[in-house]
Amino acid sequence: MKRSNERINTKKFKKHILCIGAGYVGGATMAVIAARCPQYLVIVVDINQEKVKRWQSDNLPIYEPGLLDVVKSARGKNLFYSAAIEENIRKADIIFVSVNTPTKLFGEGAGKTADLQYWEKTARDILRVSESDKIIVEKSTLPVRTASAMERILNSNDKGIHFEVVSNPEFLAEGSAINDLENPDRVLIGAQQTEEGQNACREIVEIYENWVPRERIITSNIWSSELSKLVANAFLAQRISSINSISALCEKTEADIGEVAHAVGKDSRIGEKFLNASVGFGGSCFKKDILNLVYICESYGLSEVAEYWERVVSINEYQESRFVQTINKALFNTIANKRIALFGFAFKANTGDTRESPAIYITKKLLEERACVVITDPKAIENARLELEGLDGNLEFQADPYQAAVNAHAIAVVTEWEAYKTLDYQSIFQHMEKPPFIFDGRNILDHRKLFEIGFNVYPLGKHPLSHL
Ligand SMILES: NC(=O)c1ccc[n+]([C@@H]2O[C@H](COP(=O)([O-])OP(=O)(O)OC[C@H]3O[C@@H](n4cnc5c(N)ncnc54)[C@H](O)[C@@H]3O)[C@@H](O)[C@H]2O)c1
Repeated sequence: MKRSNERINTKKFKKHILCIGAGYVGGATMAVIAARCPQYLVIVVDINQEKVKRWQSDNLPIYEPGLLDVVKSARGKNLFYSAAIEENIRKADIIFVSVNTPTKLFGEGAGKTADLQYWEKTARDILRVSESDKIIVEKSTLPVRTASAMERILNSNDKGIHFEVVSNPEFLAEGSAINDLENPDRVLIGAQQTEEGQNACREIVEIYENWVPRERIITSNIWSSELSKLVANAFLAQRISSINSISALCEKTEADIGEVAHAVGKDSRIGEKFLNASVGFGGSCFKKDILNLVYICESYGLSEVAEYWERVVSINEYQESRFVQTINKALFNTIANKRIALFGFAFKANTGDTRESPAIYITKKLLEERACVVITDPKAIENARLELEGLDGNLEFQADPYQAAVNAHAIAVVTEWEAYKTLDYQSIFQHMEKPPFIFDGRNILDHRKLFEIGFNVYPLGKHPLSHL
């Protein structure tokens, strides 16, 4: 199969799409665009050559259900991966920029605002090597009004080239990315209200129209589009923090968080999704995007609005620390030298992504208390090792959850992997230290059954089932 783009017959394609950044978003989004639009040539480039090589192989750099099949259906036909960034910029008509925009860790806005250095470097690369007009699509999540800064940089050229910046934020969720991309609730495209802006907007609409019903393709002004992505993530995270805050109250009052969430969620004005109590939200986006929103509000002098959204993040931190406190307290206020098996390290099920996973905080806190922490996860062990590199303490990685639980004093379920629901807990019980504990940080297990086996069971937001 031809995987390098050196000898592609480019003439047979209607347009050349380039995506800069072959990460979770660029990789998955472009695979679906290429599979659904055979008339477009889609090239994905990245500065990380190792990553590019993995996209060219069947050992993809990310785990996402269904992704490999989609990649294989288009790779070598109209989908190619390359490290030749400049050459591909030159040839492209439409450039999606999907580089990382992490929280800035230094200088003005440190810890809150987005670090735009990768994004700006891309803009400067595009400016330096381009020889023709191009549409630049903001796929990365960016602070509102970034497009204006980008247009100023790009259109400062003296080559007579026009760059039109369009916003097309990505709403996929890791773990269900392929389905989200193939059947999106909506696609959002924001453009300037000028003739050039509207022409560029139509070109991007045309791509998605190949498989997304037109009524689900929303067009808006560019600032609304940029802001909507931050707001969507803030609202999703807010629901998680809302239900998690109530889980703490349930534990004090003998109300049951599952019953409360069910009763509340049945109200059609509220809805049932995102009402599962948990150890807290993770992932590379929620915290970063809320803090970015907070920073933007602060910079416009909207301190009340900033404080309101900042609380969503602090409740999340509270929930993570509450979980560790519950473990410590239940294990007789000392976990030093006790073996604790963490079931799951990914920030959610069906992904190997561990960025900002609550498991990181939980592991660090348990190690500080001198516990022996054993980590198991079906897809995230490799990333867990990287996240925890250099940490002092008694840390072990075990691919097999049964092995992880041998001689453990406690199991803490951190990720809601389906596989953990159907393990043979009777056998696990036999090989654990007694009395054995299970802390279900996702409320996915059959608590009554575990209690009957002999475990002391600590769900979230529910009364513990204890033999002690
Ligand atoms: N991960 C998600 O679920 C998700 C969902 C929606 C939106 N987003 C947003 O999409 C953006 C990308 O997120 P991601 O999770 O895909 O990040 P990622 O870190 O997985 O991927 C970004 C890629 O960009 C590459 N890169 C950085 N600078 C580059 C440059 N100058 N030239 C070429 N490549 C470069 C990096 O090597 C990396 O492979 C972020 O803004 C994020 O907020 C992420």
